[in-house]
Amino acid sequence: MDRRFFLHAALPAAIASSASAQNSAAPPCVPPRTADVVYEPTPLAVVETLINAANVGPRDRVYDLGCGDGRFVVAAARRGAQGLGFDLNPNLVEWATANALAERVDERVRFAVRDIFTVDLSPASVITLYLLPELNVKLRPKLWKELAVGSRIVSNAFDMGDWAPDRTFDVPTRYRKAFLWTIKPEHKRA
Ligand SMILES: C[S@@+](CC[C@H](N)C(=O)[O-])C[C@H]1O[C@@H](n2cnc3c(N)ncnc32)[C@H](O)[C@@H]1O
Repeated sequence: MDRRFFLHAALPAAIASSASAQNSAAPPCVPPRTADVVYEPTPLAVVETLINAANVGPRDRVYDLGCGDGRFVVAAARRGAQGLGFDLNPNLVEWATANALAERVDERVRFAVRDIFTVDLSPASVITLYLLPELNVKLRPKLWKELAVGSRIVSNAFDMGDWAPDRTFDVPTRYRKAFLWTIKPEHKRA
């Protein structure tokens, strides 16, 4: 058979079968919906400050809501914690997964394409955030309802409205502040 004819005849079928294989195996590359805030990473020094502030250790399960490249979860896993990161952007989830592999903490972490407002937070003992003030306030009732007493929440840059933090940190970012809260018995009664 003429080689050019063979390629002409065979290529469309090969491409179609490769596309269908990709469709069944590959993760989705289109976000389920538009993100509520754009990606901007927390500086690594601030990640360390907040992971220390939350006193993360091997008994913790750390969730980063809007995980970006996974740096909070990877830092937590380096302290022996289990970590889960959620983001609407599949490319960031893939990047975070690769970072965890590169840092050799992939056995303790998972990343998923999820809307943070639909994630069950009850298994988490620590939540890390770098969102927006209005998103923090929108998350607040869910944090109070689903997290156990003693769980810690840390946020780069933004507070939680009139929920006073347990600690405030001066950090070298354009927003200059970071925060720590702890879930207390009164939050479960609210
Ligand atoms: C400012 S970045 C913070 C990234 C990372 N947590 C850090 O501190 O380096 C916020 C992230 O939240 C994600 N995001 C925004 N809205 C979301 C939502 N509703 N569900 C899941 N992820 C969301 C964005 O895609 C972005 O990666």
